Amino acid sequence: MDERRLNTTGFNQVEDGDIELKLRPSRFDEYIGQAKVKENMQVFVKAALGRGETLDHVLLYGQPGLGKTTLSAIIASAMSARLKITAGPAIERPGDMAAILNDLGEGDFLFIDEIHRLNRNIEEILYPAMEDFVLDIIIGKGPGARSIRLDLPRFTLIGATTRIGLLTAPLRDRFGVVQHLEPYGVSDLQKIITRSSTVLDVEIAPEGAEEIARRARGTPRIANRLLKRVRDFAQVQYDGAITLDVARASLDKLEIDRLGLDSVDKKILLAIIEKFGGGPVGLDTLAASIDEEAGTLEDVAEPYLLQLGFIQRTPRGRTATRLAYTHFGLTHYSSSQEDAAQMTLGGNYEPI
Ligand code: ADE
Repeated sequence: MDERRLNTTGFNQVEDGDIELKLRPSRFDEYIGQAKVKENMQVFVKAALGRGETLDHVLLYGQPGLGKTTLSAIIASAMSARLKITAGPAIERPGDMAAILNDLGEGDFLFIDEIHRLNRNIEEILYPAMEDFVLDIIIGKGPGARSIRLDLPRFTLIGATTRIGLLTAPLRDRFGVVQHLEPYGVSDLQKIITRSSTVLDVEIAPEGAEEIARRARGTPRIANRLLKRVRDFAQVQYDGAITLDVARASLDKLEIDRLGLDSVDKKILLAIIEKFGGGPVGLDTLAASIDEEAGTLEDVAEPYLLQLGFIQRTPRGRTATRLAYTHFGLTHYSSSQEDAAQMTLGGNYEPI
């Protein structure tokens, strides 16, 4: 099972080689952006500490890469508690869930990533555990089966999901705190990149950081990944420093365009436009046509394309908008008709 146990200072005690963990802030005051969520969580943590209680269960939702795991580690650390990390798909049987819960200590935090991917029968073990801190175990099978109830320590579950709509109502309702993480703005991403550059010990100009931020599609994980690749170009092909020109040239070589679209995004848009006449096309058909997983397409690529207004979700499938056509220098199929209609309605032109 994919689990990592971190103590309260786990993120500070990483080995030098573990850059990924070093890039993560470990305290609220180092965590950039998500002002509302951060402020709310600080209040709930302070209140719980003031009362000497554990924190209510927390549900964090938002796109991949926005820092749900990082924030959870910060929350656990602020409560001076241990954090155990696992993920929905890693918990295969009810017994796995029972073992994880049974292993928790008083005040521990349990982080379940992709909690929407828990099976229903595993989820049902969580209900009494979350509500009454008990574990109901069925012993035996058939008519002779009986249930025994074990007490659990008071713990806090932090669930993270990219798809809140897929959570069942009984599970969602058991979280006392529900917070939505939003995509980051360019200026917050620029700050994150500048902070990460210090951790990575690379010199960066503010304009270089801003350029990477602009192409990071609102996501710190992508920003840090791009920063590391741009650093490689800066080191090998330039003098080591990331200037605006170095950032631009490197990102162009990585085929990340000025809006942050990568080759997968471009494949999706061009498939809708060229193979399906602009859509609508169903998600599965679209995914198969470009040899991608429908889930990846929906969770990873689509949110940003929707945010940019390049695609629309309709009941009959995805369509590419006029903005998408314009981005590729193509003419939208209905442009001529719409323009003609506008000319007529605008009254500036005599209808022919
Ligand atoms: N690294 C990744 N996410 C971050 C954030 N929100 N603040 C600071 N550094 C980060």
